[in-house]
Amino acid sequence: MWHLGRPMLHGVGCLGGVCGACPISIRLPNQMAPKTALACQTLVAEGAEMAFLPGDASKKEIAPLPAETPNQNTLFQYYPETRRCVACGACTSICPQGIDVMASVREAMNGKLAETADRFVDCVMCGLCAAVCDVKVRPHRVGLYTRRLIGAFQENEATQLKKRIEEIGSGHYKEQWAALMEEAVH
Ligand code: SF4
Ligand code: SF4
Ligand code: FES
Repeated sequence: MWHLGRPMLHGVGCLGGVCGACPISIRLPNQMAPKTALACQTLVAEGAEMAFLPGDASKKEIAPLPAETPNQNTLFQYYPETRRCVACGACTSICPQGIDVMASVREAMNGKLAETADRFVDCVMCGLCAAVCDVKVRPHRVGLYTRRLIGAFQENEATQLKKRIEEIGSGHYKEQWAALMEEAVH
């Protein structure tokens, strides 16, 4: 759209597949049904039909981290509607990241916070799952909050993260970084 000179006010963010600003519905000529995807990660193809999709427009609540170890009620305090899930599967069908969103919501309903957080690792917060939920569950927000809870209260030290930070600090990736930047310039 940019190359065509069209002003884009919607669907533009990181252009790197991580911010979730650009969900689209796309149908290729040989496809029966459209699929969802992230526009910035999708190649233009001859004859493809596409439209940008609106995500979740609901107001974000302020959900602070608790002082005590979290449990199921910590989540329901801010996202009580999670318990309304009727397992229709619409959220899973629409997720451009291929997350089994419904199964993740069911884990949350059962109080399995760590499992829920783990399932949402690839979520880019596009909000499509919430936009299609008839009973107003907001799976992506549930996912993000459980990830915050688990991150803040995890008992094990993040040894791999620590190791990677040390490697970066010691210049271990200097050459790869230079090569990457060189590639980006060209
Ligand atoms: S769309 Fe809503 S009701 Fe349906 S499975 Fe997902 S969270 Fe549950
Ligand atoms: S879980 Fe929801 S917000 Fe996250 S990528 Fe999938 S559809 Fe988008
Ligand atoms: S613009 Fe950020 S994911 Fe596409």
